[in-house]
Amino acid sequence: MIPVIASPNLLADIYGAPIQVLFRKMTAHALPKDLHTRRAPLTDRFGRVHTYLRVSVTDRCNLRCVYCMPEEGVVCKSREEILSFEEIARLTTIFAECGVSKVRLTGGEPTVRKDLPDLVRSLAKIEGIKDLLLTTNGIALAKHAALYRGAGISGVNISLDTLRPDRFFSISRRDGLSQVLDGIQAALEVGFEPVKLNMVVMKGVNEDEILDFVELARTMLIQVRFIEFMPFQANGWSAGGLYPFAEMKRDIETAYRLAPIDACPGAVATEFSIENGEGNIGFITSMTHNFCSGCNRVRLTADGQMKNCLFSTSETNLRDAMRSGASDDALTEIIRECVMGKWKEHPPMGLLERLENRSMVQIGG
Ligand code: 5AD
Ligand code: SF4
Repeated sequence: MIPVIASPNLLADIYGAPIQVLFRKMTAHALPKDLHTRRAPLTDRFGRVHTYLRVSVTDRCNLRCVYCMPEEGVVCKSREEILSFEEIARLTTIFAECGVSKVRLTGGEPTVRKDLPDLVRSLAKIEGIKDLLLTTNGIALAKHAALYRGAGISGVNISLDTLRPDRFFSISRRDGLSQVLDGIQAALEVGFEPVKLNMVVMKGVNEDEILDFVELARTMLIQVRFIEFMPFQANGWSAGGLYPFAEMKRDIETAYRLAPIDACPGAVATEFSIENGEGNIGFITSMTHNFCSGCNRVRLTADGQMKNCLFSTSETNLRDAMRSGASDDALTEIIRECVMGKWKEHPPMGLLERLENRSMVQIGG
């Protein structure tokens, strides 16, 4: 059992001073006056501008992936604790006024939230939101892809870690591979752009399928993203379960010729084209090469907590501020302060596994 270390001590280990002290010092001096205006961009202490908001719409899921949630003990939030569509739309509007132009709906599994298309329609109307995207496990896509597309979702990321039914069951603790495969097909047919597949690669679990996934990217107009396994609360992570980027790439290059693709600003994946490929591949290397310096994202959990990093140990309670009557200006200030508290980069993996953080299903992928 790995002990969970209280965050301030751990951060003191990393940065040499309690983080609250560091933040107080830095925010007291580093915030230019004009950043206090409502519509100024969400710039942090390191000059990173935040234009991408990931909104979790539910902490529930119809799968139980081993790397995302513990087998037991995750208690779902009550309906009252979860943000209403009106609350999500209000906060998203405030973020958009501060320059957020890209919104991704996540979960849990976003498609299990009742009436999701209604939310999508209302977010699509917000001025300034140019990209409205969905991350899903694909189970419901065959049925609803056209509906989501019509409501305003332009692209989807579909999580899929194996092409073998028995393995699908052992990873997600449920059946559903054929539904996901039909979902991918439907996503392409209704014209989502882009369609990405996310494969979490775990040593001894599914690394032997990497080439099969590259073959999908070679033959279909999709991007396959190989994600390094990351530690979250009780998700079975160990350094031995990590299959690092360098090894994935080496395996792929035994069979395919890859050429690097120039990264767009804020891109998290290291991307490559495949010779004669319809699609391409990417690697999300959070564990072996962090991409924090270009990070442009902030998160809102289903229960209304803002997180300035996937791994942040603190959360900012926008829900209670909003419910206790905070004005849009006051909420904007709280959001700015949260952005200002963002660390330069997340701690290295040896420390990440000991951080006090929620499960991925509760944070939102
Ligand atoms: N490590 C890496 N990726 C993860 N995801 C969920 N949990 C983990 C983890 N522990 C991925 C999901 C989904 C994306 C949002 O995050 O597979 O595709
Ligand atoms: Fe559900 Fe996605 Fe977590 Fe799997 S990874 S349990 S599909 S939220």
